[in-house]
Amino acid sequence: MSRRLVNGLLGLGAVSALTGLMGTALAYLWPMAGGAAGSTRLVGREGPLLATALGDDEGLVARSSEGKILVVRKGDELIGLEATCTHLGCTVAWNAASQQVECPCHGARYNLRGEVLRGPARDPLGRIELSADEAGISVVRRLDS
Ligand code: FES
Repeated sequence: MSRRLVNGLLGLGAVSALTGLMGTALAYLWPMAGGAAGSTRLVGREGPLLATALGDDEGLVARSSEGKILVVRKGDELIGLEATCTHLGCTVAWNAASQQVECPCHGARYNLRGEVLRGPARDPLGRIELSADEAGISVVRRLDS
């Protein structure tokens, strides 16, 4: 195999790798048609998140254009919080037994107002106003900013 052919193949491989990386980056940044990106609708693992999917005192994390949102049902009320821990960015979850929002990574705890109950997190979770209709749950606005 000639040196020129080897150099050509190496160059082709580099171009392919760069193209693949750029494609991945664009796919991440580009809004998905019908998906959560660009929409205020919350989308769970099985599609649009309906209010009826949550029983009383249940919570789950869904995605929207606002990022990951923790939704907790308390009676008729839907409580929304940013689901990204303010310590190092892990995804928090609702624990009905402790009645706290918990981070599995380093043990931070928050209440349903997003306030830190236990570190290492120092900053609160952002609160999110939600609305619900027959098509699903949507983000109305961030309450803290
Ligand atoms: S990332 Fe949540 S406590 Fe560290």
